[in-house]
Amino acid sequence: MKKYCVIGCPIAHSLSPKLHNSWFKKIGLSARYTAVEVQPEELERFMRDFRKIYSGANVTIPHKEKIIQYLDGLTAEAREIGAVNAIVNKKGKLIGYNTDVFGAMSALKTKCKSLKNKRAIVLGAGGAARAIVYGLKRAGAKVVVLNRTVGRAKKLAREFGCEYGVLQDFGRCSCDIVVNATSVGMWGKNKIKDLKVLESPMPDFARIISKRAKKPVAMDIVYRPKMTRFLKDAKKAGCAIITGDKMFLMQAAASFGLWTGYFFKNSAPATSGGGGGSSGSGSP
Ligand code: ATR
Repeated sequence: MKKYCVIGCPIAHSLSPKLHNSWFKKIGLSARYTAVEVQPEELERFMRDFRKIYSGANVTIPHKEKIIQYLDGLTAEAREIGAVNAIVNKKGKLIGYNTDVFGAMSALKTKCKSLKNKRAIVLGAGGAARAIVYGLKRAGAKVVVLNRTVGRAKKLAREFGCEYGVLQDFGRCSCDIVVNATSVGMWGKNKIKDLKVLESPMPDFARIISKRAKKPVAMDIVYRPKMTRFLKDAKKAGCAIITGDKMFLMQAAASFGLWTGYFFKNSAPATSGGGGGSSGSGSP
């Protein structure tokens, strides 16, 4: 039986095992996908035995950047992004892909016809934010990166030719699109009882946006809960919203395509051969 996993910390919230196991069943592949909590200080040890055990994996918070040093190769896209969310074990060689960019761009396209010259604000500067900034820039958007830690925003912005600032700068920036690419608002280890679901990376969002005539499209990469505090505030302020499950599903479909050659856009019956591909490319 082939083994796959998603590694992250926290990981209890992840729907990846349920989704991928149901897809494996559909195509009749003898494979099992599990969620493995790997603390940052355990990553090196975990990766030592990885290639002997796993045929592939997804990588999520907070390992998408750090994982790169333990891989044997990267796609050109993953290298440019500087973050990996999918690994394929090709005969003992671990190759890193980025399917987040495909997931995020597919999700954005459900509400934005064209991204060219659109002003986009990305909240966050971690691994997921990198893929989103890369995708937005490639589509011709003008991007501002706002992050809690300004140094990380500055580094990302310099690499991709964006503006940057801290989260508190949001009120001073006009925008057509806002993406929460932080983990704020996500279920923690205690799931729904966790007070973290009440948090937003931008607690003043509704107040700031309510006053504006032009409402931005708001997207969240957090998919558990589906209606995050950030998206509730955006809806209240009159924004069109894109829930995190869209990106989650499409990055998963592309990852599954890399491992099996089958590409599912939903839980419908298998279509063979699509491949997915990361350039094609939520977060697991
Ligand atoms: P991922 O690979 O999933 O993006 P990551 O690299 O750990 O995970 O990045 C998490 C992002 O969420 C970062 O932008 C982080 O901000 P910092 O760079 O300042 O750490 C952001 N983040 C996490 N917790 C946050 C919080 N409580 N408030 C604001 N931002 C937060």
